[in-house]
Amino acid sequence: MKIFLDTANLSAIKMYNDMGLVDGITTNPSLMAKEGGDPKKVMEEIVRIVKGDVSLEVLSVDTDGMLEEGRRLRKYGNNVVVKCPLTPEGLKACKILTSENIPVNVTLCFSVNQAILAAKAGAKYVSPFIGRLDDNGQDGMNLIREMREVFDNYNFGTQILVASVRHPMHVVESAKIGADVVTLPPDVLGKMLKHPLTDVGLKNFLADWEKLKKENPNTKI
Ligand code: G3P
Repeated sequence: MKIFLDTANLSAIKMYNDMGLVDGITTNPSLMAKEGGDPKKVMEEIVRIVKGDVSLEVLSVDTDGMLEEGRRLRKYGNNVVVKCPLTPEGLKACKILTSENIPVNVTLCFSVNQAILAAKAGAKYVSPFIGRLDDNGQDGMNLIREMREVFDNYNFGTQILVASVRHPMHVVESAKIGADVVTLPPDVLGKMLKHPLTDVGLKNFLADWEKLKKENPNTKI
């Protein structure tokens, strides 16, 4: 399972990218607005830092506008994936951009039926928003389960990119189901990394070593 970061925060992207944990990035207009600054410069910088796919979202709601923006965004780098909304206009843009070898991430997916249509339109990724379904009193993880089953039935090439992830258990469940990608807010990735027993264990190892060093002051490893 690939791990993407769901952020436009350059310091978080650099930090986790240096650890080798970032297979790609997803952004959206809200994430860009949260960081502020010149969005074009921020997008270009993300595309420069990260080697894997970087999803950049169009702002138009009509197909022609999405095509124009998508083609422009793709010029930022060969790893740019154009993010289009799951609307009739967005699916049409997806089909055309895909035919021009510009990969598309169809976003704002909330049902298996929508996911099937994104796959039929040739999307490289489809992004089901599981946290927002949970917020709405539905079972977001069940959507991932059903999508996996349907996509496998027909060998759809479209990758299931789990989005709107809120906590580490979403990641574990996505991995068990066999999602292709999870895109994580940096704080969720941070929580995956931490375990109190790791911290206690390391503290004890170092304390024991200090005792040993006192007995062997000139030994170095
Ligand atoms: O990638 C989509 C994601 O950013 C949406 O997350 O937390 O706003 O529902 P959220």
